[in-house]
Amino acid sequence: MSDTQPPRVDAEASTTADSANAPRPPRLGGLPLVGSTLSIARDPFGFLETARETGDVVAYDAYGTESALVFDPEVVESVLVSRADAFRKGEFETDFGELIAPSGVAFTEGERWRRQRQLLQSSFTPARIRSYAEVMVDEAATLVDGWDDGETISLREELSRYSLRVLARSLFDLPLEDDRTATVIRAANAVNRYASPRRLAIGGLLPSWFPDRVEREYEDAMADLETLVADLVAQRRAADATGDDLLSLLARAEYPDGSRLAPEAVRDQLITFLFAGHETTATTLTVACWLLGGDDAVRAELERELAAVCGDRDPTVGKLGDLAYTEAVVREALRLYPPATGVYREPTSDVVLGGYRVPAGTTLQLSVYGIQRDERWWNEPATFRPERWLASGTGTEDGGWTLEDDSDRPEYAYFPFGGGPRHCLGMRFAMTELQLALATIVRRVEFDPVADALEPSLGVTIDPGPAAVRVRPRREK
Ligand code: HEM
Repeated sequence: MSDTQPPRVDAEASTTADSANAPRPPRLGGLPLVGSTLSIARDPFGFLETARETGDVVAYDAYGTESALVFDPEVVESVLVSRADAFRKGEFETDFGELIAPSGVAFTEGERWRRQRQLLQSSFTPARIRSYAEVMVDEAATLVDGWDDGETISLREELSRYSLRVLARSLFDLPLEDDRTATVIRAANAVNRYASPRRLAIGGLLPSWFPDRVEREYEDAMADLETLVADLVAQRRAADATGDDLLSLLARAEYPDGSRLAPEAVRDQLITFLFAGHETTATTLTVACWLLGGDDAVRAELERELAAVCGDRDPTVGKLGDLAYTEAVVREALRLYPPATGVYREPTSDVVLGGYRVPAGTTLQLSVYGIQRDERWWNEPATFRPERWLASGTGTEDGGWTLEDDSDRPEYAYFPFGGGPRHCLGMRFAMTELQLALATIVRRVEFDPVADALEPSLGVTIDPGPAAVRVRPRREK
């Protein structure tokens, strides 16, 4: 922690008038012209660590933009929730959105966003999510059935395919054949490569005439994805599109008041869901399965809970309330490897955050990854310990764990799904899928890691790497 911290000013009480007097945040030095861009590209984890040691709000320059990293959960709460109106998604998010789906709900603002969110919400009610549970279990069982005993698989690849099939069947009422699944996965990977810190750093320095392979792959993959999405909409329209699934809803292209969605908004919503809803869940499942492969005690406790609650059957949505240990494993995977490593916002006028003046237009990165591994809020933050989410003294032979959130910890010491009005629209969907899939897989097989450690890379999202494991049928213990 830096000793240059100013006396704390309540972020909530700050006004533009206060901001004139407040000091600027401590600043990470960088090179002339490129600022911290190259340090981020070289070692994103190291850069984050240095920033966290410097302070709770730390200014730096990256990719030619004035930026600040935030490691204070109270400031996160203020930006996302209590003062949300003073911030917008901003240029960083808009630029990222341009690569994927600029008119999609994750990137629009104001009234346009509100109307889109309201329309899409109908696919994420608790009742609708319960109706997706069977597909989530069924696809997990089918996935495991396709693996041979002793086979080496890439968890990331397998679980990417799984989460995409679940998304397509449940939200879009559509079985995605393998070549279509491959088109979506190829586009997601191409965007990740194109928007990685290393590539952004190199790309910004390349002359425009330089042949850029990563850019070409991205453009080709996105063109294929757009063709696929256009086909899906056309097919659903030809079939009348009377269903209440998300694809039919969008193919009708109508708000409930009868007004029309623009064609690019229809396409961009679909692309948004294909991206936002598949990779994130796949990453978390990959991490959870990998961590279980390296921790016999946690694995044994999880098996004990599943046997006590589900007997010799697959889990159902009705049992989720009793699967506290399973939920703790999922929460812990999301804490250690949050798929969205940061949430980005931009103040619309000068503000005071954590006692520092932050000018309008600064790109704020609320560091999910940094805060969720901060020892001020977490004991042994780098250790995988699902028990930290459970009430002490529970956990008996017959399962019986109870979830307990540590009330001493600030609420926004954990925010893998963001917070406030723009929190993840798919949060309940994701948590249901993650628990059901994990339980279904763990009941059938065990994994032996092939490499010594996970090799994640840190960009706008975390890429867990291939996570190669050897599969074997579950041993009776
Ligand atoms: C482990 C899984 C997931 C994680 C960690 C995650 C994380 C997030 C985060 C952090 C945000 C907020 C971004 C911000 O405020 O700037 C977000 C937004 C969003 N997520 Fe998720 N997500 C997950 C799964 C899903 C799923 C399964 C879906 C859909 C099926 C989904 C759809 C969305 C959408 C549409 C938004 C934009 C909401 C808005 O701006 O109003 N996400 N997600």
